[in-house]
Amino acid sequence: MQDSLISQLRETAAFIQKNYSQRPQVGIVLGSGLGNLSSEIEIEKEVPYKDIPHFPVSTVAGHIGKLVFGKLGGKMVMAMSGRFHYYEGYSLQQVIFPIRLMKLLGIEALLISNAAGGMNRSFKVGDLMAIVDHISLFVPNPLVGKNIDELGTRFPDMSEPYNKQLVAKAKSIAANLGINLKEGIYAGVTGPTFETRAEYKLLHIAGADAVGMSTVQEVIAAAHAGMKVFAMSVITDIGIREEENTITHEEVLQAAADAEPKLTAIFKGLIAEL
Ligand code: HPA
Repeated sequence: MQDSLISQLRETAAFIQKNYSQRPQVGIVLGSGLGNLSSEIEIEKEVPYKDIPHFPVSTVAGHIGKLVFGKLGGKMVMAMSGRFHYYEGYSLQQVIFPIRLMKLLGIEALLISNAAGGMNRSFKVGDLMAIVDHISLFVPNPLVGKNIDELGTRFPDMSEPYNKQLVAKAKSIAANLGINLKEGIYAGVTGPTFETRAEYKLLHIAGADAVGMSTVQEVIAAAHAGMKVFAMSVITDIGIREEENTITHEEVLQAAADAEPKLTAIFKGLIAEL
């Protein structure tokens, strides 16, 4: 089955290369409510997911996922417009298929954003956090199964899944733009429920500063394949809180949209300096 997975990936890569002759250098995966960066790409080619062999297809009605190829910050980029989450019912191998495809297409750097709940007591809604490490023990590991040796080793090192140099660069870009970029540890969960008060507390005690329903699987796949990753969370709600308020998806999307321009500016600066 895994043998066929690598041949599927190769077929998919060959299909993309037939449709688009440039080699992308940077992969971009944007989180909920954080998609505006794609609109700044000088688009050269768009390929709907439904046309791509072996690609997961969005099950959500009215949602058109596509790969966007073009230029941003002087680099050739490949952005996913529409991301696959485990909570939507995709298998973990489907969730990481696009990241592995990026690797086969020659991409070496991956930029990821997400919306996340804050647990660090100094965080406020709207803050940006550069992810410096993650806790992914609460979700199944996407590399379970026969290893694909062509992509990476059976037991990948995870001592620096988030590239330290990219974090340092992002910090200096943010400082030059007058943006306060925090740093922290992201805990991955499956969702789709937001966490209970006890769960936020547990994740905080475990060492996490923020929690979200994406990113960790993609980063594991990227680390396995030896890609450099920079990932950033927008804090869209505060999990550890005294008042009896609730969290809604609408509130998360609104907070993400408000913080989006800052995130976009940092990503653009970083791409230009890669
Ligand atoms: N928990 C999990 N995922 C999230 C949250 C949260 O509080 N906010 C945005 N995504």
